[in-house]
Amino acid sequence: MAEVVLGIETSCDETSAAVVVGERGRPELASLIILSQDVHKVFGGVVPELASRAHLAALPAVVERALDEAGVSWGAVDAVAVTAGPGLVGALLVGVVYAKALAYAGDRALIGVHHMEGHLFAPVVEDPELAPPFIALLVSGGHTLLLDVPAWGRYRLLGRTRDDAAGEAFDKVATLLGLGYPGGPAIERLAVQGDPARFSFPRPLLEHGLEFSFSGLKTAVLRAVRASTDLERDRPHLARAFQDAVLDVLVTKLERAVRLTGHRTAVLGGGVACSRALATLATARLAGLARVAVASPRLNADNAAMIARAGWWHLEQGERSDWTLDARADLPLPGLEPSPAIPQSANRNPQSP
Ligand code: KG4
Ligand code: ZN
Repeated sequence: MAEVVLGIETSCDETSAAVVVGERGRPELASLIILSQDVHKVFGGVVPELASRAHLAALPAVVERALDEAGVSWGAVDAVAVTAGPGLVGALLVGVVYAKALAYAGDRALIGVHHMEGHLFAPVVEDPELAPPFIALLVSGGHTLLLDVPAWGRYRLLGRTRDDAAGEAFDKVATLLGLGYPGGPAIERLAVQGDPARFSFPRPLLEHGLEFSFSGLKTAVLRAVRASTDLERDRPHLARAFQDAVLDVLVTKLERAVRLTGHRTAVLGGGVACSRALATLATARLAGLARVAVASPRLNADNAAMIARAGWWHLEQGERSDWTLDARADLPLPGLEPSPAIPQSANRNPQSP
């Protein structure tokens, strides 16, 4: 098993590298560098071509810095783990080609990692005791996944979004409210000042099943924005009502999955798990049912530490990618198993309000 794994993440707008070092077989984070591409802020969203170019310019220095901070030379690296998808294909390609070149030239192991599996491994970087079985709610800008995880590397899909991802809904509603990109943090900050009773938005698919839908909610916010006679006054209240609706849906489904499977742990991951409000609500609603595990915001946003850690696990299983590894915008989650027969019509959680 490799002792030093270099992780590389370039799937969207963060250029990141990290080093994980296996002290007595227990992987520990030795360094993490995250360079956020500010250029997209002026465009109100990620511009794929600009993201690729920025990764290309920054990646060599980001990798070098991660090795320096970890105090390891390139010669000490045993394996390179890199996000191979899903994400922006041009952005992914920069990381994949760079990782392949490094590994090939140095005759090191190469492992391609699924971005969402990376998010799933984020909490274990800080909490080495965390272990399956658990329910995972992975919520990012592109995905909303509810998974039953009986063991690392085995995933049963319980529910996903039928349309927009949760993070995407935050970003679109932030644009409607005239807030900047990314929308999630801006909405969370504003929502603190909002009165939860001023507006009320629908909670799509709340009553039944484990699937999600957020596009109707976004339309409801659009209507409320258009109907507002004083957006300046209403903005915090709209942000609050929207956030309350999304979080209620997310946590209701999480709680339902916990009750259906009986797992005693629930993991939150992905950029939306940076939300303190989400972690607080999940912890309150799952009290007595399950422990909620969530990484710190630095590890929930896109970063290479989670990629190095997930790669470590795959390498430990004896897996390697070969030199045909390619970037795939639609890479399927590895280890997906047929889902258990959980009725999508499963009723509302008995103890929910
Ligand atoms: O995982 P991530 O960093 O990138 C992707 O893989 O997509 O997730 C980014 C998403 C964005 O949509 C962003 O608005 C959302 O995570 N996000 C939040 C918060 N911080 C980031 N959403 C709600 N509340 C937050 N505090
Ligand atoms: Zn992500």
